[in-house]
Amino acid sequence: MKVLFPANLKYLNHPYTIMILGISGSPRRMATEHILGEALKMLQERGLETVQFTVRGKQISPCRHCDYCLKNKECAIKDDMYQLYPLFKEASGLVVATPVYNGGVSAQTKIVMDRTRALLAADQKALTAKPGMAIAVGGDRMGGQELAVQQIHTFFILNGMVPVSGGFFGANLGATFWSRDSLEGAMKDEEGFRSLRKTVKRFAEMTELFKRIKEPTG
Ligand SMILES: Cc1cc2nc3c(=O)[nH]c(=O)nc-3n(C[C@H](O)[C@H](O)[C@H](O)COP(=O)(O)O)c2cc1C
Repeated sequence: MKVLFPANLKYLNHPYTIMILGISGSPRRMATEHILGEALKMLQERGLETVQFTVRGKQISPCRHCDYCLKNKECAIKDDMYQLYPLFKEASGLVVATPVYNGGVSAQTKIVMDRTRALLAADQKALTAKPGMAIAVGGDRMGGQELAVQQIHTFFILNGMVPVSGGFFGANLGATFWSRDSLEGAMKDEEGFRSLRKTVKRFAEMTELFKRIKEPTG
């Protein structure tokens, strides 16, 4: 469903599409990708359209800081990131899911975030005023999930997005899972699913609120 911005939000200058983009930053089809799938399913049940993207099997190289994008408004590295650029632009909200590597996001997740430099070079408002939520899946119970979530939130804040958490009593910063290094472990993590449900609920509410603000009233 395409919705045009009302006059007072015309500065954003592109059509508003009710689509949530979920990105898995895991190179495997394991816990992170499955948990992201569960999150998107919950969003669909709340009436939202979703698109799932995974870095698994994709060729996405790190940003080279060549600054080609600043001049040419596109990235010089012509790889699978070009599948993501239009989705980022079209999405009305982001769900970023990462495995925890060394107490933070995976290198793959970081690369995707860094490579949005070209997206923003072409359109500084490409992500402005879009809600975002984070999911972090660690092998240890306290392996750095909250640090990884914060790293993703920092990316949201830097780009004018609105980070959404699930709130107190279970999902203070977002969705955090203890996988015990397996898919089965993550799927059995009741506390993790509680944090996911709470975060998804708030994220869906925030998306609905933004939809109402951006919808034409006439
Ligand atoms: C390079 C590397 C570093 C890791 N570092 C951490 C860590 O700091 N904390 C943690 O809890 N788990 C760590 N893990 C374990 C993964 O977070 C865990 O297995 C997770 O479930 C992987 O996600 P996946 O199932 O989607 O592959 C690490 C795994 C790898 C491969």
